[in-house]
Amino acid sequence: MPTPPVILLLSGSLRAGSSNDRVLRTARAVAEQAPEPLEAVLYEGLAGLPHFNPDDDHDPLPAPVAALRAAIDGAAAVLICAPEYAGTLPGSFKNLLDWTVGGTEICDKPVAWVNAAAPGRGEGAAATLRTVLGYTGAAVVEEACVRVPAGGGEPAADGLLTDPAAREGLARVLALLAAAARETGDA
Ligand SMILES: Cc1cc2nc3c(=O)[nH]c(=O)nc-3n(C[C@H](O)[C@H](O)[C@H](O)COP(=O)(O)O)c2cc1C
Repeated sequence: MPTPPVILLLSGSLRAGSSNDRVLRTARAVAEQAPEPLEAVLYEGLAGLPHFNPDDDHDPLPAPVAALRAAIDGAAAVLICAPEYAGTLPGSFKNLLDWTVGGTEICDKPVAWVNAAAPGRGEGAAATLRTVLGYTGAAVVEEACVRVPAGGGEPAADGLLTDPAAREGLARVLALLAAAARETGDA
């Protein structure tokens, strides 16, 4: 049986109870019910990444950086959900993206971001993502870059989003990323 494509989920928040995490954990649950098999894997190494230093960006890489690049390399596509801090990305997540610049793993890889903020919020983070991903050479899947507010509906007991529109939106995002990965040969 062919292996289902892996979509790597990158959260930009380190906060316990993060709304961006909630959106991505919901995406992971939605992936399990997708009509076409796909696997959504949540990256959990953000807190362990060292501060980016070009002097350390060579083999052997710091182990957390090697693990990050291997996770991106092994994924068919990447889905980001990051909050906005002071009009841009949280520094810790920008740090993660800085570590991807020196590698080739994200280059030409289908990537999208979901904005979990309420309407009218989070545009600064999205604009920064667009700029930085441009430098990494990621293949941004425009139709999959959508808003899925984390505040929609009461969270279920498992903390996931229950709003059908949010879950349908995430299913569409995952399907678009999987389709883009098939086109680029990543899946
Ligand atoms: C230091 C800090 C700065 C923030 N700056 C902004 C901002 O510029 N624009 C905005 O819309 N929200 C801003 N927020 C609100 C966060 O984006 C919002 O609380 C978000 O839900 C946090 O994501 P999380 O729940 O995944 O941790 C800021 C929050 C913090 C803690």
